[in-house]
Amino acid sequence: MDRIRIRGGNRLAGTINISGAKNAALPLMIVSLLTPETLTLTNVPRLADVRLLQRILQNHGVDIMIAGKRPGQNGQQGDTKQLSAKTIADTTAPYELVSKMRASFWVLGPLLARCGEAKVSLPGGCAIGTRPVDLHLMAMEKLGASIAIEGGYVVATAPKGLRGAHIKFDKVSVGATHAALMASVLARGDTIIENAAREPEVGDVAQCLIKMGARIEGLHSATLKVSGVSSLSGAEHEVIADRIETGTYAMCAGMTGGDVLLKGARPDTLGEVIAVMRRIGIGVDETNEGLRILRNGQALEPIRIDTEPYPGFPTDCQAQLMALMSMARGTSTIRETIFENRFMHVQELVRLGADIHLHGDTAEVHGVAKLTGAPVMATDLRASVSLVIAALAAEGETMISRVYHLDRGFETLEEKLAACGADVTRIAGN
Ligand code: UD1
Repeated sequence: MDRIRIRGGNRLAGTINISGAKNAALPLMIVSLLTPETLTLTNVPRLADVRLLQRILQNHGVDIMIAGKRPGQNGQQGDTKQLSAKTIADTTAPYELVSKMRASFWVLGPLLARCGEAKVSLPGGCAIGTRPVDLHLMAMEKLGASIAIEGGYVVATAPKGLRGAHIKFDKVSVGATHAALMASVLARGDTIIENAAREPEVGDVAQCLIKMGARIEGLHSATLKVSGVSSLSGAEHEVIADRIETGTYAMCAGMTGGDVLLKGARPDTLGEVIAVMRRIGIGVDETNEGLRILRNGQALEPIRIDTEPYPGFPTDCQAQLMALMSMARGTSTIRETIFENRFMHVQELVRLGADIHLHGDTAEVHGVAKLTGAPVMATDLRASVSLVIAALAAEGETMISRVYHLDRGFETLEEKLAACGADVTRIAGN
């Protein structure tokens, strides 16, 4: 297994190209199941999760062509993928594949809408909490599907097709909103989705669906109105820039007192992250090319924050913020309200010298003057990158193992950081 070695202390300066968003690319690829025509996605990040979803979609009969490297506008990178689900060969998503990535469960909605049936493995346990799928199933039932759980699988049928419904979520769920949206676009009649997730990735998927002929109103709001259509066509769509990657590199720059241009970043999708960076004492300037992040000698100010659904501070940046605050001048309080047990990074950060105490869903982070390199272990995607942030400022060498977690969600992380002056090397495992 690969490891990443970081020798801390270098100030980051330069330009980092922001990739397409993993959390938009995955549902956009799943959207291809809704049409027999070709969906062309550009700016698709090259990530392990994308490759895994490709295998899952191929299993359903989706033909996928990858048209080489595309330099892209705004200096963004990524692949162009053409996905054609001319016929659905298999409506079963097997345990072996779904258990590796929770988002693959989201094929349920489109398969049901297109084929009137789907058998999808329950996603199973996950390192960051129980993460149930009750809201997904409620939405499918409202749309007229019959649901049974058999042998660890969700078996959903709607032989006469789905019909429009009023779906009201009692909790904001990104995945359940995607599911309701993807299923209702082909349902007969109108659907209202209340308390929908407003995450920019949901808006990106809705925009792609509209290009394909779907009728959706209320984009980016908490109430989506869908008028079902009988079929969707192919389309071309560029995956939105990754706001979590943007926030992560902003914190890397802030941590090292650096000056970095995040090229292609979309400030309008960052919600509270920009305001939080500024409160901490990190300069954030919007430029024509993206965002410039600058910290020039100012101390890092402590902060008190709760994670929240968009536009609040994202849970996917919580671990990174904690790494940053480990060197603030004072005590920060970070409360995780979205997922229980999303604090696996705490023990690893402590190994680097951070002073963090957990009280239920809240972490109290006492800023220290210095972190020191140590061997640490990546535990999940966002937790692993928090270790990178801490390591960039730590004295000496940090060796991060199990970096396959990082590869799930960060495209060429070590190349992007090294280009800005970080001393970071990937050591290939056997
Ligand atoms: C998505 C993101 C993930 C992010 C999360 C929250 C992708 C691929 N993943 O995950 O990176 O951290 O949003 O912003 O886009 N819940 C239920 N019942 C359900 C579904 C969810 O109770 O049926 C709960 C979850 O346990 C959690 C909360 O709702 O407490 C939010 O989860 P959700 O928004 O669904 O997360 P994901 O869509 O899985």
